[in-house]
Amino acid sequence: EATIRLVVAIDGPSGSGKSSAARGVARRLGLAFLDTGAMYRAGAWLALDRGVDLADTEATARLVRAARLDIVTDPDAFAIAIADIDVTAAIREPRISAAVSRVATNLAVREDLIARQRAIIAGAERGIVAEGRDITTVVAPDADVRVLLVADADARVRRRHTELGQRVSAADVTDQVVRRDADDSTVANFTTAADGVTVIDSTALDLAGVIDRILALADAGTGTE
Ligand code: DC
Repeated sequence: EATIRLVVAIDGPSGSGKSSAARGVARRLGLAFLDTGAMYRAGAWLALDRGVDLADTEATARLVRAARLDIVTDPDAFAIAIADIDVTAAIREPRISAAVSRVATNLAVREDLIARQRAIIAGAERGIVAEGRDITTVVAPDADVRVLLVADADARVRRRHTELGQRVSAADVTDQVVRRDADDSTVANFTTAADGVTVIDSTALDLAGVIDRILALADAGTGTE
C-alpha cells in the first residue's frame, strides 16, 4: 500500500483554536505536529533569559540564529528546547506572551525560524500538521490542505480566558488577543485567506466540529477515505 505524505497548514489569530485543532488532526491522521508560535516564544524566552534588549533587532536575531532548537513533533508529546533548555512550559508564561510579538515582528528572526520550519516540514516522513500565522502563505504555500481558522473576537477572548484561568484579568486577555494580533498582522496577513485557502469559522463550532471539517478537506484533497 502506497503511503501518502500529507502536509496540512493551518493559520489563524490567537484564540481561534488552531493549536488544539492542528493537534487533533495530527493525531487522527498519524502525522507530526508543529506549533510554530512555540518557536517564536522560545526565541523570546532566550532573549529575556540572556538579557538581550528586544529593541536591538540585530542582537536578538544573532542570539536566535546561533541557538540550537530541538522540537518533539509528536502531537501527544509536543516539546521544545532552546540552547539545550526545555522551555515547553516556560514559554506559556504571561511575560513571554507579552514580549513575543517583538520577536515575531523581527524580520531577521522570522527569516531564520521560517527556514527551520521548512526543514522540519520537509523532514516529516509521513507528513505534518503545521500551525501559525504564515504557514499557508509563506512557510508552506504548497501544502496539500490549507486552512485559515477564524472566530469572532469575543469568542477568541473567551477561549483564551478559559485556557489561561481566572488568575489572568479580562483586560490582560483582551490585550493579548486583540493588541497582539494587531501587532503581529503587520508582518503576516492572517485575517484574509490567500488563494486556495479554505476559511473555517470556529465561532459556532466545537473542537470536534473543527477537526471534522479539516479531516473532510484532507479526504477531498488526497482522494482517500
Ligand atoms: O500562536 P502563539 O500565540 O503561540 O504565537 C506566538 C507569537 O508568534 C504571536 O505573537 C504570533 C507569532 N507567530 C508568528 O508571527 N508567525 C507564526 N507562524 C506563528 C506565530
